Amino acid sequence: MDKVIEKVSEIGVVPVIKLNNPEKDAEGLAKALIDGGVPVAEVTFRAAGAAKAIKIMSEAYPEMLVGAGTVMCEEQVDEAVNAGAKFIVTPGLDVEIVKYCQKKGVPVFPGCTTPTDYHTAYRLGLKVIKFFPAEQSGGLAKIKSMAAPFPMFKVMPTGGISLKNLSEYISCPTICACGGSYMVTADLIDNQKWTEITDLCKQSVEIVKAARK
Ligand code: 3PG
Repeated sequence: MDKVIEKVSEIGVVPVIKLNNPEKDAEGLAKALIDGGVPVAEVTFRAAGAAKAIKIMSEAYPEMLVGAGTVMCEEQVDEAVNAGAKFIVTPGLDVEIVKYCQKKGVPVFPGCTTPTDYHTAYRLGLKVIKFFPAEQSGGLAKIKSMAAPFPMFKVMPTGGISLKNLSEYISCPTICACGGSYMVTADLIDNQKWTEITDLCKQSVEIVKAARK
């Protein structure tokens, strides 16, 4: 298995982060996640400073697996990788971006929710896909239905996942990790509530461990 996929699967949760002030918050946030046992981050390009945040986090904590999310074009793939991103996440399945990442040798997890998306991902040789937005697209029931014709995929659902339903999702063998912003909300980050973030991460890790026993 690819090392990135292996590490993401081992941790089991991926914080989906929107950082408005990377200089102020990126390093503290990275430490809070690591302290909570979640040394991984999907830093989304929804905020202008995403590349800066990726650079700060990966330079301060080289052991951390920092990736880029909401990547919309090849230029952002370059920006993310040059900043230190180790994986790329896209909200939808864009064939050109996937091929571009494959050419560069960077793991890419595109958002897929339909049989057509899955089929296209299969033809592109992908092994792991994001399922987004998870709850709104049919949740666990749909993920299980999709696994019947497409048993070859591991899935990373994101969208509507919280401490309440994490156990249910992560117990499903099709699911390798769950993405979410519940442990890195705007309030928690903007007010530098690092202890709370660490605590939410610890609770998430416990849930993943218990579900996998
Ligand atoms: C994503 O970009 O993956 C989602 O917006 C995160 O969804 P959540 O905020 O419901 O966790």
